[in-house]
Amino acid sequence: MPITAITGSASGIGAAVSAAMRAAGHQVIGIDRSDAEVIANLSTAQGRNAAVAQVLEQSGGVLDGLICCAGVGVTAPSCSVILAVNYFGVSQLLDGLQGALAKSRQPAALVIGSVASTHTSPECQPMIEMMLAGDEAHSLQLADTLDQPHLAYAASKYAISHYTRRLAVSWGKQGMRLNVVAPGAVETPLHQASLDDKRFGKSVREFVAPLGRAGRPDEIASVVAFLQSPQASFVHGSVVFVDGGMDAMVRASRF
Ligand code: NAI
Repeated sequence: MPITAITGSASGIGAAVSAAMRAAGHQVIGIDRSDAEVIANLSTAQGRNAAVAQVLEQSGGVLDGLICCAGVGVTAPSCSVILAVNYFGVSQLLDGLQGALAKSRQPAALVIGSVASTHTSPECQPMIEMMLAGDEAHSLQLADTLDQPHLAYAASKYAISHYTRRLAVSWGKQGMRLNVVAPGAVETPLHQASLDDKRFGKSVREFVAPLGRAGRPDEIASVVAFLQSPQASFVHGSVVFVDGGMDAMVRASRF
């Protein structure tokens, strides 16, 4: 039975992805702060190392899939937490589990980005460069200085999508597939917290995709399960928007 590790497995998109992968015949090693096979806090280097060590132990050192869903939104306690979970909590898991994936016959990994990744602000560029250079201490410091959660969120998702595509070039040479799924608004606790937030609720409610509704977690999970399957064996290094048409609405000429 193929083994797939999934971060953020306890809620929302990660829970739906876990159900879809189990239905596809995978053994799932869920990673989350609670209600998971591996309990870990991905906002710290120590927590990420512990997560990698436990996944290696539970998988016997060979992993067929890795799906990074864990993330925090604009209502996170601070901007530095947004970068710590959404960028470093993903990049360090990809790096830490690369060796175990390389031992599988048909390895595939996937990162949940966001349609927000296409809307970075020029003032975030230095912070993005620091993330991509792996400088966690300074990028987190800068994030808290800027103190703009929506900009930190977009920057974290842009940076991790860029990192993933860059990594795909070297992983591809070893036959390891790696893709990004960029959802638009999806009905999850994270999305509900943004709707309920005094600062962001109004703009989140007004920014509606052409299909006229938010997505359901299972509508993201079905695309993820396809991309992780052998049916998607030539899809590699892609950013797949699953957003009800939001990216087409905002950036019709860019693809
Ligand atoms: P959610 O809040 O339902 O689930 C997120 C999961 O990540 C939770 O189980 C949470 O415990 C886990 N997590 C958060 N911080 C963690 C930490 N420090 N250590 C370990 N686990 C941690 O949210 P949702 O919506 O399912 O989000 C999943 C992914 O989808 C995130 O990366 C989010 O940025 C992305 N996304 C969500 C959208 C939406 O509208 N819901 C839109 C675009 C992207």
